[in-house]
Amino acid sequence: MNPTLDLIHKRRSIRLYDPTPLSEQEKDAILSATLRAPTAGAMMLYTIIEVEDQALKDRLAETCDHQPFIASAPWLLLFLADYQRWMDLYAAAGCESRAAELGVPTRKPGEGDLFLAFMDAMIAAHTAVIAAESLGIGSCYIGDIIEQWETHQALFNLPRYTFPAALLCFGRPAKEPPGPPVPRFERRFIVHKNAYRRFTPQELDELHLPFGIRSLAYKEYPNGAQNIVQANYLRKFTADFSIEMTRSAKEILKNWLQEA
Ligand SMILES: Cc1cc2nc3c(=O)[nH]c(=O)nc-3n(C[C@H](O)[C@H](O)[C@H](O)COP(=O)(O)O)c2cc1C
Repeated sequence: MNPTLDLIHKRRSIRLYDPTPLSEQEKDAILSATLRAPTAGAMMLYTIIEVEDQALKDRLAETCDHQPFIASAPWLLLFLADYQRWMDLYAAAGCESRAAELGVPTRKPGEGDLFLAFMDAMIAAHTAVIAAESLGIGSCYIGDIIEQWETHQALFNLPRYTFPAALLCFGRPAKEPPGPPVPRFERRFIVHKNAYRRFTPQELDELHLPFGIRSLAYKEYPNGAQNIVQANYLRKFTADFSIEMTRSAKEILKNWLQEA
């Protein structure tokens, strides 16, 4: 393996941090690598908000599904899908009036623009993860940033054409994460050739085997589940945080897509 592949294979989500702040050089190295991420049309359809204020971190530890470790991460980066900057730029450059003179129909950012901006934001986020990893700085994504949109909108002053894509916690690992690395599904379940293929009941049985082995640690499955897949369904898919995430995302979309 070369050093880049080695780094990717060894990375694990880090949730326990050495409290030492990241140096300015480290933050600069991560951010400058991040801004080199591929970006649709070179438009950089994302914004990054650095969060170092302890009161803000404490608040996020609550609003992102009560995950206390967020408050102890020395550095947080919030990645927003962002079309607002381009809409402001288009307005400042007189684009709509010129389009009208030319008979070109104008429009507002739609679903496609949002998805593209979301891709941009996530690609930038993962570039930051890999850059940090190369400096010995661990990270953990927080998907729950999609929840509680009204609160996050107010906390970060988010304008209409933004969407919180990912929150990332960064810090030097305080110690090795407990237990073995989280297993992945076998490649045959993830990588298809030329077209999508749904799995047979037998294959579906085999699909969750690596997680089944981990689940032997359970004496009893939680929440009344009778197997590991039911445990996932009850702990994740039907959980309150998933329901809140969907409610919140719907509100963001409603706001983004409403007629002006
Ligand atoms: C989109 C996304 C959202 C995630 N959200 C959370 C989260 O809210 N809290 C958390 O502790 N880990 C979160 N994670 C980390 C995953 O739990 C972790 O990547 C997964 O268990 C695999 O472990 P590994 O990264 O150590 O290989 C998230 C990861 C991704 C990619």
